[in-house]
Amino acid sequence: MQRALIIGASGTIGRAIAEALAQAGWSLELHANQHFLAVQQLSEQLAVRYPRQDFIPVRLDLTANDAVLTKFATSILAVNAIVFAQGVTHYGLLGEEPLADIDRLLTINLRAPLKLTHLLEPMLLNQPYSRIVFIGSVYGGQGSALESVYSATKAGLSGFAQAYSREVASSHLTVNVIAPGAVRSAMTANFSAAELSAVQADIPAGRLATGADIAAPVVHLLTASSNYLTGQTIYVSGGWLR
Ligand SMILES: NC(=O)c1ccc[n+]([C@@H]2O[C@H](COP(=O)([O-])OP(=O)(O)OC[C@H]3O[C@@H](n4cnc5c(N)ncnc54)[C@H](OP(=O)(O)O)[C@@H]3O)[C@@H](O)[C@H]2O)c1
Repeated sequence: MQRALIIGASGTIGRAIAEALAQAGWSLELHANQHFLAVQQLSEQLAVRYPRQDFIPVRLDLTANDAVLTKFATSILAVNAIVFAQGVTHYGLLGEEPLADIDRLLTINLRAPLKLTHLLEPMLLNQPYSRIVFIGSVYGGQGSALESVYSATKAGLSGFAQAYSREVASSHLTVNVIAPGAVRSAMTANFSAAELSAVQADIPAGRLATGADIAAPVVHLLTASSNYLTGQTIYVSGGWLR
């Protein structure tokens, strides 16, 4: 089976991963929350391009309670891969951040993905081989001032992937993190021209990543032959931060 669930397929990186996996022959369940229309349209476009594969839009607010997460997990058609490409951030000093915002960030970036992994584990372990990929961040390896909670969630994903991969390695389930540097996306769209050129000057590759740059190693991790690479955080940053 080649069927993946992409959480956050309405985002810049999630969409690029969906397009690359569809091209590689995968059927997909494409998740969104607020921008559900975007994944409905993407599903229709991919179905025209790849008529032998299935593309199904699915909706969930990751801040929902455990009963809703459980219901979502039971509604998913069997998959042998999950890519967690959702995420949110805030810029600001921790001391000025409302407590509710800290909770929201922890929930969307870390708590809900871990709970969905728990809920979907039996389905994954029931496949001949299976894969989990979390989209982390270079800031999980090297914390960023003004994004301390975000950095903590990304470091948490890397720690979780390393530990959990050891629990499931003998069951042909690999668990890895792809950690992008700066990507051209909604998250970087509000950079001023000066901020953008300062960031680009720091990146040895001389440019921000595209979604396709991040999607390429995700496709590789999902291949059946990539079965010995597990528990790792792979930094995809054009030589910038680790
Ligand atoms: N962009 C960068 O420069 C960069 C760099 C390093 C790491 N990353 C990481 O890459 C991932 C994707 O980033 P991106 O740039 O593609 O972000 P994006 O375009 O802003 O997309 C964010 C995604 O998260 C989903 N999401 C947000 N809140 C949600 C909620 N409450 N419930 C369910 N889904 C929710 C969104 O769904 P809806 O819009 O449908 O609600 C959307 O699919 C994130 O984990 C981010 O931390 C990004």
